[in-house]
Amino acid sequence: MAVPASAEGGRPSPPEPGELERLHARIRACTLCGLHATRTQAVPGSGRVPAEVMIVGEAPGFNEDVQGLPFVGPAGRLLDTLLRQIGLSREEVYITNVLKCRPPQNRDPLPHEAEACLPYLRLQFKLVQPRAVLVLGRHALERMLPGVGPISRVHGQIFVRSGVAFMPCYHPAAALHNAALLDDLQKDFDRVREYLDRLLSEGSKEPPEAARDPGSDGAEPPPEAEQLSLI
Ligand code: URA
Repeated sequence: MAVPASAEGGRPSPPEPGELERLHARIRACTLCGLHATRTQAVPGSGRVPAEVMIVGEAPGFNEDVQGLPFVGPAGRLLDTLLRQIGLSREEVYITNVLKCRPPQNRDPLPHEAEACLPYLRLQFKLVQPRAVLVLGRHALERMLPGVGPISRVHGQIFVRSGVAFMPCYHPAAALHNAALLDDLQKDFDRVREYLDRLLSEGSKEPPEAARDPGSDGAEPPPEAEQLSLI
């Protein structure tokens, strides 16, 4: 799925007024998988479109299911802090999850649930038109950058796909359970800031030179079709 380009061949044209709200309404009414039967409500996403930065987590938890908003529990508070530390606020970015409905007891997403939800993530991606996508945790990584390696190895690296930088980071919830990961997470967010600074200072439509290689481990990237199921 290609990102639509504007007539000038640069950034895609901005979303039509109301497009995001219509997509959110579709997601709230979704019954494509069994999770609709156990959710309190679906959690489409929050923030602005278009946005330079899109953040994708795993799935709503208890608090998100009650409030209908992503990342509003303890992991969300840590995410807010990490964003604030790099000069961003949740109002400036767009935040969503691979799954839009809470799995019972916060169990891992099942493959067919993620497949059912993926078209919504693709549509959100088209509306947000991000320059950088923060991929939080191993489930989002598996869906968005399949085959690149485990999160423990690729966190903090930058994978450029169709001109967009995908940046895997540990999930904030993982850092809440294992304090040793917090330092890595903060460093990963610092790299995001550095990347955005370079992007803005070069005033470029292209990713900065140093970020064009797919990952920094020197390995051959998998074929394009395996790299990213999102775009
Ligand atoms: N964890 C996630 O992955 N997403 C949320 O929205 C909340 C917690």
